[in-house]
This record gives sequence, structure tokens and C-alpha cells, in this order.
Amino acid sequence: MKFSVVEQSAIEVATPCLIIGVHEQARLRGAAAAVNKASGGRLLKMLKSGDIATQVGKTFLWTEVPGVKADRVLVVGCGKAEDFGASALQAATAGAIAFLAGRNVRAVVCALPELTITGQTASWRTRLCALACAFGAYRYTATKARSARRSAVSRVSFLGDKTLRKPLREAAAMASGIERARELGNLPPNICTPSYIAQECRSLAEKLPNCKSRVLSRKELENLGMGCLLGVSQGSAHPPKLVVLTYQGAAKSAAPVVLVGKGITFDTGGISLKPGKGMDEMKYDMCGAASVIGAFAACAALKLKINLVTLVPAVENMPDGKSYRPGDVLTSMSGQTVEVLNTDAEGRLILCDALTYAERYKPQAVVDVATLTGACVIALGKHASGLMTPHDKLANELVEAGEDTHDRAWRLPLWDDYQPQLDTPYADMQNIGGPSAGAITAGCFLSRFTKAFDWAHLDIAGSGWDGGTKNGASGRPVALLTQFLINRAG
Ligand code: BES
Ligand code: MN
Ligand code: ZN
Repeated sequence: MKFSVVEQSAIEVATPCLIIGVHEQARLRGAAAAVNKASGGRLLKMLKSGDIATQVGKTFLWTEVPGVKADRVLVVGCGKAEDFGASALQAATAGAIAFLAGRNVRAVVCALPELTITGQTASWRTRLCALACAFGAYRYTATKARSARRSAVSRVSFLGDKTLRKPLREAAAMASGIERARELGNLPPNICTPSYIAQECRSLAEKLPNCKSRVLSRKELENLGMGCLLGVSQGSAHPPKLVVLTYQGAAKSAAPVVLVGKGITFDTGGISLKPGKGMDEMKYDMCGAASVIGAFAACAALKLKINLVTLVPAVENMPDGKSYRPGDVLTSMSGQTVEVLNTDAEGRLILCDALTYAERYKPQAVVDVATLTGACVIALGKHASGLMTPHDKLANELVEAGEDTHDRAWRLPLWDDYQPQLDTPYADMQNIGGPSAGAITAGCFLSRFTKAFDWAHLDIAGSGWDGGTKNGASGRPVALLTQFLINRAG
């Protein structure tokens, strides 16, 4: 999606479609007030008569509007002015873009960011609205017939001046990272295999400036002693990969940020097999990987003055005669041993070796992202990613980056009091922590491999995709991570 700024007024801009927002009780502002005036008060009349609804996301298409250059005006309900916040702006934008889908309108001028939100600037509202436009316009089509593909809005202009260029540049980079992440997440598990992810990363690094990629094969992982990652991969016909993406935007000597993403391309649970119902959704178990790849692409596209390493352990978790089993003891790259009590707690096993691998970069900070636990979905639902870290400053930075992009995270405690839940007589730790505090004990497990650096863990089991509405992969937390990198780059 292309974003731009137009320095014209709402009524004089020539466009296939002008999108304006109206609040309840018809207190018209900005573009809506201008359109009302130019049309001799018709907008107000239709609002008063109830012909135009003002609930958030409701739409009314108005053609041949007197006094307005636009071919059509799409009036979007924005609810009560005093309740108007980031979520309402997103929902109103989504309503507009969904209405236009399949209607052969490719370019629009969007005036929705004019509506004020307490405490936020026009730049902020514009960036959020631009992201919502791109989110709404995305359609998964990779494995559909050509005839099923519908046209969507691809160019959005915003009313304003050159101060909007920076937020729109950021929005474009984030949106393209989000789209990449969503597409990878939505692809079926027979296509999106570990090798496929590795190949995608290779071609991404070739396209982007100052980027390199390296893919570690099974042999190399064996030589590194990644016994936990390899244990998970044993039952799969698809060989495991560890992808290393590097972006150099600062001095070679500057410590990088390292992002690590869980890339289980399909999670059957292994020998601790999952129930059949909804198992197809475990194709999304690589959404953490997809998000760190998306954030990597956004960081490189923005040419941020920072060094970034993105690590993607990509593995499939299958039941087989060769599978690892409950009771197995694996030796991690760190030397610590792990008793496997449930082969479905596989995410932490591939992450722990990738986290140990991160040590060699002497990072300024490491953030891992993973669809790690069903317990996190129970705790936080789909609206917040679960944030766990022993480092308060890093926690605050990530929470703030999430607020700033409306890609929010909520912190859970990672107190030592939870650690004994991982005790076992047979190894240095077991891979499950029992029924209570499942998201936290998974975080505790990872914390044992992250002593060498500042580290945070984001559990996106709830926020990473939306099975219910069939929106599919959300692309979260690409925006949060990109904002974090923007802030770290200074
Ligand atoms: N990928 C799942 C977590 C998951 C489950 C994400 C449902 C989203 C929806 C993970 O590998 C898993 O299976 N976790 C287990 C851990 C348990 C065995 C300790 C879980 O959460 O049930
Ligand atoms: Mn699992
Ligand atoms: Zn999993």
C-alpha cells in the first residue's frame, strides 16, 4: 500500500473516494463540516434523519455530492467523540476499507485522522490510520484461484502537510513488515516448511540494503550441540533450519539488538498429540518467527541506525517412530539438561538453543517472540501480548512501544518463586511447569538461557492470529518491535 500527503482541502481534492468521519450527535468537524457546507447542509440533514449511522465502522456511500470534487464520499461512523480512541479509529478505518473491498476503488483520500484523540498528535493518528488501512486491505490469496481475487484499496492519501511524511514513511515500512508476517503465517504448513522460511529469509536479505542471511543446516546445529532444538525436529520429514538475518545500520562495533522468533511450522504436539479439533490452527505456530522477520524488514527499509540480528529456529513438531518422547532427557547448547515431560511444550525447546546462540553477538538486548502457551490466551486473550522480563527498563520500553503503535503488551511477573515448578530429579529442569501459571513458567524456562544479556519474552499465543473471525495472522507484534527499534536507534 502506498501512502501520501495532499495539501488541499477536503472539498477541492480530486479523488475516486473521499473518506470522512462523523461522530454521534452530528458535531461535524474538519472535512465533514466542509462537505456539509459545500453540499448546502445535506450531510447534517441525513445524519439528523438517521439515514447515516454514526456507530463505529458503519458506512454510507454518497455519490455526486454537490460542491465536492471527489467522485464519491464515504461517510464513516466514528461513535461518540468523547470515546474516540485508537481502537475506534482502527475500527472506523477497517469499516471503510472493508466497504470498498471489491468495489474497484483503488485510490482514496482519507480524512479520518482529523478526528482528535486526547493526548495524541495528528502525526500519531495518521500513522495509526495508515496502518489500519493496510491491515484492512490485506487479503490472503496465495492458494486461491485467480478468479477469487478481489480488488482492494492500494493508495491512500491523507489531508495535511509535510509533517505527515515521517509517520507515513514509518507506517509504510511497518505495514509491509506486517503484511509479510501475515502472509507467512497464513500460508499452509505443507508450503510454509522450515526450508521455505529459510528461502524466504535468503531472498529478503538479498533484496534489502546492508542485510545478510545465513542458514544453519542440521549438521551445523549438531556441531553446535543444539540438542533441544534437534530433539523437537526428530519426528519430522522436514529438516530443521536456524536462520540468521543480520542488518548493519550502525558501526560494526555497536552491540546489536537480537530478535528471536519461534518458527514451529506445524505443531501437532508430537507424541503428546494435540486433540484434532482446531489443530489446523497450529500452522500459525511460526507467527513469532514471521513477526521478527517482518520487523527485520521494516528496520532495514527505514535504514535505522542500529545493528539488528534476527534468529529464526524453524522446526516442525510431528509424531513419528523417530520422534522425541516424554521422558527423554535432552542436552541443550548451554549444557543444561532438560527432561521432556510433554512433547507439546516444544516452543521453549527450540527457543532455548536459539537464545544461547544469541550470546555470541554480545547483544544490547534480546527479545524473543513466540506463540508459546495456551495459558497466555486464557490470561490475556487476543488484545495483549504477554510480556515477561526481569529487566524493568526493557519492560517499560516494550510496553511503551506497544502503546505507541496500539500493538499492546501486558507484563506478567517472572519472579523466582515460580522457578521450582520446573524442578525434576532427572535433569536440570523439566519442560513443563504444571497447570498453574503456564505462561509464566514457560518464561521461567527461557530465563535460564538468557543470563548473559538483557532479555524479554513476548508470548503472542493470543495476539498472533485471530482464528475466530478468519482474519488469520495478525502481523503482531511487528509494529511494537519496529517502534522499539526506532526508539533504540535514537
Ligand atoms: N503452540 C502451542 C501454544 C498454543 C496453544 C498457542 C494454543 C496458541 C493456541 C505450544 O507449543 C503448546 O502446545 N503449549 C502447551 C504447553 C503445555 C504442554 C505446557 C500448551 O499451552 O498447552
Ligand atoms: Mn506445542
Ligand atoms: Zn507450539
